[in-house]
Amino acid sequence: METEIKEIEIIFFAEIKEINSLQDLEKLRIKYLGRKGILDGLFSQLSHIESSQRPLLGKMLNELKEKILKEIKEKENLWAGDKELAGIDLSLPGLYFVIGKKHILTQTIEEVLAIFEKLGFTILEGPEIETEYYNFTSLNIPQEHPATEAFHTFYLEGEISSGERRPRSAPGKGRYLLRSQTSTVQVRVMENYLPPLRIISPGRVYRPDAVDASHSFMFHQIEGFAVDENIKFSDLKGTIFVFAQRFFGKEIKMRFRPHYFPFTEPSVEVDISCIICQRNQKPETSNQKCGVCKGKGWLEILGAGMIHPRVFHFAGYPKHKYTGFAFGMGVERMAMLKYGIEDIRLFFENDLRFLRQF
Ligand code: PHE
Repeated sequence: METEIKEIEIIFFAEIKEINSLQDLEKLRIKYLGRKGILDGLFSQLSHIESSQRPLLGKMLNELKEKILKEIKEKENLWAGDKELAGIDLSLPGLYFVIGKKHILTQTIEEVLAIFEKLGFTILEGPEIETEYYNFTSLNIPQEHPATEAFHTFYLEGEISSGERRPRSAPGKGRYLLRSQTSTVQVRVMENYLPPLRIISPGRVYRPDAVDASHSFMFHQIEGFAVDENIKFSDLKGTIFVFAQRFFGKEIKMRFRPHYFPFTEPSVEVDISCIICQRNQKPETSNQKCGVCKGKGWLEILGAGMIHPRVFHFAGYPKHKYTGFAFGMGVERMAMLKYGIEDIRLFFENDLRFLRQF
């Protein structure tokens, strides 16, 4: 009888595997566990068995009964779950939600800010509606100087209200305008805080430029500056190099070209080696000109320099006490160089086919 019990177990498990409906499962249950079922038959045979063997065989039979019950229950539960789905077409596509994401310019600004925050810079923002004083005078640009010409537009009507905080050195009342550069935050911050300063300041700027592939009357800049008792040009170089490597990649090279800005002295423009040529492994001398650097091999990324003593004067800092560096970069330009975008207008046209790529 012992072997019989073992055989029945094997047969049961083989049979239940083949079952695919609740009705068949019920039939199987009756076959094994019902009155006059297979197990019932075995139990009634027990009485004819020698009494010394009865406990062992009884135990085996009970165990088999348990196993069979458990197996049938499990299958039942599995199918009960399916029953709840009856009437639902599982092959229909799911509902889909359009999830928005950050504009590529916002992503770029955040990436740049994160790099400078790790270097110890603090984020501060200045106003877009600015006075002539902060946009020109405090940056050592005399109002009658031709350098202001490129910025002369977008004036607001009316004179600056008397409530506006105006340093004594500000000539006249002045007018309001849309700022043409984020450098305006330099004196604004210095008026309110003493060094050491490590400031990074993103924002919109406005210029009287006709719109084309590389110009826009509105774009974004990020200004950075550091002021302390012993800031040197090498600090500027080191900071910009670390930034450029983290933003564009470790493999880039960097160079500084002499330049002129009224509010820095000395002033420079900073170039990095063209990331597109480099990626394509094409040397600068290659016949086929690279579309991004136009075959020059270098890309201008920002303007910078050591803060001019006149700027500290307008800030009200004591003479000769502090030195500092400042730099300003165009956000659109950064994104264009990094991702090989050839037309600045793409950022503002709201064409989702473009925006979704980032
Ligand atoms: N403000 C300058 C520009 O708009 C960039 C700059 C910032 C240069 C700080 C030097 C120092 O071109």
